Amino acid sequence: MSQKTVSSPLEDQEDSTRPNAAPSDAYDFLVVSNRLPVDRAGDGDDNGWRRSPGGLVTALAPIMEKSDGAWVGWHGAADEELEPFEHDSMALVPVPLSADELELYYEGFSNATLWPLYHDVIAPPEFHRAWWEAYQRVNQRFADAVIAHAAQGAMVWVQDYQLQLVPAMLRAARPDLKIGFFNHIPFPPQEIFAQLPWRRQVLEGLLGADLLGFQRPNDASNFARAARRFTAATGKGTRLAVMEGGRERLVRAEAFPISIDTQRISELASRPDIIERARQIRHDLGDPKTIMLGVDRLDYTKGIRHRLKAFEELLTDGRVKVGEVTLIQVASPSRERVEQYRLLREEVEGTVGRINGTFDTMQHTAVRYLHHSYPVEEMVALYLAADVMLVTALRDGMNLVAKEYVAARRDGTGALILSEFTGAADQLKQALLINPHDIAGLKNAITTAITLPSGVAGRRMKAMRRQILVHNVEEWSSIFLSRLTEVCR
Ligand code: F6P
Repeated sequence: MSQKTVSSPLEDQEDSTRPNAAPSDAYDFLVVSNRLPVDRAGDGDDNGWRRSPGGLVTALAPIMEKSDGAWVGWHGAADEELEPFEHDSMALVPVPLSADELELYYEGFSNATLWPLYHDVIAPPEFHRAWWEAYQRVNQRFADAVIAHAAQGAMVWVQDYQLQLVPAMLRAARPDLKIGFFNHIPFPPQEIFAQLPWRRQVLEGLLGADLLGFQRPNDASNFARAARRFTAATGKGTRLAVMEGGRERLVRAEAFPISIDTQRISELASRPDIIERARQIRHDLGDPKTIMLGVDRLDYTKGIRHRLKAFEELLTDGRVKVGEVTLIQVASPSRERVEQYRLLREEVEGTVGRINGTFDTMQHTAVRYLHHSYPVEEMVALYLAADVMLVTALRDGMNLVAKEYVAARRDGTGALILSEFTGAADQLKQALLINPHDIAGLKNAITTAITLPSGVAGRRMKAMRRQILVHNVEEWSSIFLSRLTEVCR
């Protein structure tokens, strides 16, 4: 694919005082994330490519499909160097990773150090110097790829915890860039973050940005407090000041709750073939009165064990009966070589086996467990088939599945059980909010959801739909990028 000089999504003024180190043939807007939206691990169903997992791609792909910018990231295969290419009208710039780097930077530092640390230490984080070294090296490679493709004064939007050093690396090499960063996961309270041996370096990496976006106001203030405590940054609230070349530079940390392409999900939910598929799913399960649904990456932060425990107890108590209620649990494969994920899979699959062995009949199953990823059309059919959606995360930056379920319920039916430890709980206030650690409370919420009078369910669902129809992912990105433009002036 030939590179082109393209316009940024927002017009901005050139700053002629900044040095001109940009390549002559490059982009005015770049997104950089660990993963590209397409991934070539696995079988691949679209010319050898398949959609990458996770909320980040769900949120950013619709924006990038309409943008002229480029997306810089890893393409899902180890030890393979690819030229920039185009896919689904997106310009993609692949960053290569070796098998060793995947182990140390991705599985190690990103997903066995930072991920548990940033999610309330639900699993114990591991600290290894070799992982940290690989994290620095790989962050520099992502920064170099951006530098090689960014036009003078370009806007660069760095995504997520895997790339926290990239903002400062970009600033050091290219002070002409406007640098934004968005953290898709929570930012932990200072007392927990303090455990990280490289806390100062990580914070200084982030402080290279002009604007730091977080899911919730608390995440932004956790970051700002940590930055004041462990770096030379000063300032009040979430407005920070850092010294650079004898001058003060401002860094803002603010909340920008992410959302989904509501319109797209809602439209898919009105497609006759998808409605028919939802009917088929219900029929294949023996037409139970109630279908409950969980959709998660198979991750210990998602509270899948808590959900299964509550359901198993309800079956044991006789408060729900197989044949009347079926739980579909989609657990998409994730980070399978990380020890904690392997252990989780064994435990979840053992529990599902026990529940089904105890309660299944010849005709009906208690839990239909699916360790697969599905295309969006099948996901929407599942949302339409589900009377009750279970989102029981122990900690989650946002949780876009909760928003997708609401977007799919055009007729206002259905009940959403939503953990108060998700970012989504700030916006979907009419959900049945639960504390997933409180199993008795969760059981009560499930029986309430199953028996919720249709008038009450309808009022709640309509209010939630209004929220996400207005606050969609396009609004999220345009608010972030306008704010970035504003703070860079
Ligand atoms: O925001 C959470 C996140 O880690 C994203 O960065 C990522 O794209 C998604 O979850 C899926 O995780 P992974 O890329 O490790 O499969």
